[in-house]
Order: sequence, then structure tokens, then C-alpha cells
Amino acid sequence: MRVLVVGGGGREHALVWAIAASPLVERLCCAPGNPGIAAEADCMPVATGDVEGLAALARQERADLVVIGPEAPLAAGLADRLRQDGIAVFGPSRAAAQLESSKVFMKDLARRAGIPTAGFAVFDDAGAALAHIRARGAPVVVKADGLAAGKGVTVAVTVEDAEAAIHAAMIERVFGEAGARVVVEDCLFGEEVSAFALADGERVLMLETAQDYKRAGEGGTGPNTGGMGSHSPAPPITPALATRIKREIFLPAVQQMAADGMPYQGVLFAGLTVEEDGPKLLEFNVRFGDPETQALMLRLRSDLLPALAAAAEGNLAHIDLRWSAEASVCVVMANRGYPGPCETGGRITGLNRLPEGVTVFHAGTTACTGGDIVATGGRVLGIAAAGATRAEARALAYRGVDAVDWPGAVCRQDIAQTGT
Ligand code: GLY
Repeated sequence: MRVLVVGGGGREHALVWAIAASPLVERLCCAPGNPGIAAEADCMPVATGDVEGLAALARQERADLVVIGPEAPLAAGLADRLRQDGIAVFGPSRAAAQLESSKVFMKDLARRAGIPTAGFAVFDDAGAALAHIRARGAPVVVKADGLAAGKGVTVAVTVEDAEAAIHAAMIERVFGEAGARVVVEDCLFGEEVSAFALADGERVLMLETAQDYKRAGEGGTGPNTGGMGSHSPAPPITPALATRIKREIFLPAVQQMAADGMPYQGVLFAGLTVEEDGPKLLEFNVRFGDPETQALMLRLRSDLLPALAAAAEGNLAHIDLRWSAEASVCVVMANRGYPGPCETGGRITGLNRLPEGVTVFHAGTTACTGGDIVATGGRVLGIAAAGATRAEARALAYRGVDAVDWPGAVCRQDIAQTGT
């Protein structure tokens, strides 16, 4: 098969790494990719926001399958554009991608499909939202409706915090139009987990589970980030709970989307909490999690490519994926300052002397003339390892971290040690 992967972060490196191992691959390329991905695939300089450029690349490459990594091109309609050209795509249509690009859409679907989720109210008027918050009190969650680069959700402990979140989103418009409407939601207190399923428009195939570490600082303190590390599996998800997640969350969502004329094809990522009475949906994402995917791919023991192709072709019925019983851990190394303005440009050394069993996934790196790798992003590397226990996987991943060096590198020291 001729495969094009769209994206250039750690998630896409992990996907490319897994796809490259498939004996079915005849050609593998990635747009735009990164220096780590370049070791497994041909990287093409087309940006993820360039829908027409990507469609032209897919035609030029005679791609049998395009795997779209990030949410923004999905929300911009890249999958629809490629399907117009008759190309098989792993990733939902623009309409189906509203499950992530609109919190209001997602909550409405959950309500209509009977999916367990926090109680909520929707506002497109700041005054009404503020009055509601003052009447109901805190804690409360305020979510900007649209995509806000992971910054649109505020868990407000006090009414004042919630008022500030409404002001920022609806009056100051710090997220632009994404904050024109907000969802005000009840707080859930259970442990957060990440669950994933492939969907082919009708059927779902659950993948293994993971947990990520969202805050920048030790012990879950500091600002929210894209994810500072992850581990798989997620201990709170027992086999019985996984069955409930499939039956109560993934299947009703995919069936409701089909009934609404927006069949969902691709991966569905449910951020959920485990409450005393079962799983409750926090959010859907229409793409793999990052850095959860890095930990997940380390445990996959089947060929990923036929599963992605089957989801794209509406044919998941005969796919079964095997997973290692081991645990895996991914520690993110970032540039100092992340998630705020970073000191970038440090030269990275040590990648050629990683301990055996450590896998490095690139996210924010650039290759210079002469071959030096420099740290140019916020999140720069994911250092991943597996082991018989989570403690073993963690110890090996941190040995990998110790072997890597660049000026300005930071990482959390408590990934996979404690809760998120
Ligand atoms: N790690 C969370 C996310 O990918 O959104």
C-alpha cells in the first residue's frame, strides 16, 4: 500500500513508526513530518493547514490511504476533500469532526444518544452565562465551544474564576469566535482516563487505554499543556469497565452519528472519568491522543495498517488487534517555558546512545545542515519504553531521558509514578 500520513508531531511519529513496520507498506510518506519521522518515511514539505496542497500530494503519491493525525485539518474538511478524489481516508469528515470542534455539538449528541456525561447548559450571551453561574455556584467547568488549542476549558473552583473564564471567552474573545458560545458544565471528580476506538461508520473496535499528565508541573500543578507524559494501560479501566465504555459511550456515539447522516470513520478518543456509577464522558476528540499514542503504539502487537484501512473502508468487522500485556510509559521532554513562550534552538545530543529498549518520538525538532538536531518546538521529544510493570517501564524511560541532553530541556520527574 502507498500511505500518506498528515502531521508532524509526536503522535504522527508514533503512527508512522507503527505503520512502517507493516509488511503491506510499499511507500510511506508524511507531510510535513519531522526529523524523527524522516528515518521511517519520506517527509514532504506541505503544511497540515494546506488542504489543496495535501490533496495534490495524495494524488501525486497515488496514495491508497491517507491517515490524518491532527484535528485542525479534519475540522477544515481535509477528509472530505480527499474522499472527493476517491482516496481512502482514515479520519472523519468535517461534519463528523464537530465532535471535537464544537463542545455544544458533542454535548447535544451525548444527550440524544443517552451517553453518560456531566449536566450542562449552553450560552451565547455572556450576561445569561454569568447569571447562571452566580445562581448555581462553584465548582463548575466553563468550556469555549470551538477549538482553542487545548486552552478553552476552565475548571473553576470559585464563582469568581468561572466569571473570569466567561469574560475571557465571551467578552474579551481571547479564543476568537471559538468563545462566542460556551458550555457551562457540572464538575466531575473521578479519575481521568483516555479511551480509544476505531470506527468504520457503523462498528467500533476498542483499542487499549492510557492516561496522560496534562499539567506542566510536578504533582499535577501549573498550567495545562498538550500532555507531559503518558502511560498505558489505564489501571482504573478493568475489562468490565472497558465493555461498559464500548456499550455506553463509543457505540451509541457512532450509531447516533450514522443516524444523523454523519457516519464517523477514524479514531474516536474519549476523555472520560471513572465515577462510582461508571464511566462519564468529558470530551470526544476526533484523533489519537498525544502523548497517549506514543505509549499505546509500544504495546501494539498486530499490524496497525490493515486496521486503519478497514476503518477507512467501512470494514472493521474482521479486524482484531493484539496488545502486549506489558505496561508502557512516555515522558515528554520540552523546552523551558512550555506551555508559554519557550527558549528554543538548543542542540540535542545523546539520541544515538539511548539505552536498549528506549524509543524516541520526535515532536518539536528541526534538522540543521550538517545533521545536528535542534529543539524548536514546545514539546520536543517523547521518550518511551515498555516493561513487565509500569515501574519497570518508567525506570527505563527515565534512563532514556537521562541519556538525552540539550540546553533548556525540562521534563516532569513524576510521570507514571502517581495520578495525573
Ligand atoms: N493528551 C490529550 C490530547 O491529546 O488531547
